[in-house]
Amino acid sequence: MRKIKLTLVILPFAIVLMNCNSTKKGTEYTAVQKELSYNKDIKPIIETSCTPCHIPPQGRKEPLENYIHVKENIGAIIDRVKLPQEDRKFMPPRNKKPALNDSLIAVLVKWQQQNMPE
Ligand code: HEC
Repeated sequence: MRKIKLTLVILPFAIVLMNCNSTKKGTEYTAVQKELSYNKDIKPIIETSCTPCHIPPQGRKEPLENYIHVKENIGAIIDRVKLPQEDRKFMPPRNKKPALNDSLIAVLVKWQQQNMPE
């Protein structure tokens, strides 16, 4: 009898805690589990969201048009796409291209963790 009462008291707290955790931004980047590759997973994201600005000759800044470029800049890329959208440095620039959603950001982070296979 006592045990049941205790569970009933603890349960709501546990639920509240779980919810806090899942809505906190930045905690869900572990969702992607499969093996990623630049050609299959990363290139399409860059081509969709970062062109034409980062592809020479139109590109005004850091070119991101091949494996080496993206690999060397992955830290900066992840930093930029994870910024708050109202930040001046947020990429892709607001009102130019739609922001990357959490699962696309998760793919970038996971690829970096997997040591960036081509
Ligand atoms: C509409 C054009 C445009 C798009 C689209 C765009 N960028 Fe940029 N990006 C810029 C400009 C302009 C700068 C230089 C100004 C600055 O540093 O904020 C820049 C700078 C950067 C930098 C810093 C480079 C450096 O030399 O320090 C990174 C990293 C970056 N962008 C990543 C991205 C990523 C990743 C995407 C796609 C998700 C993206 N950008 C999409 C225009 C763009």
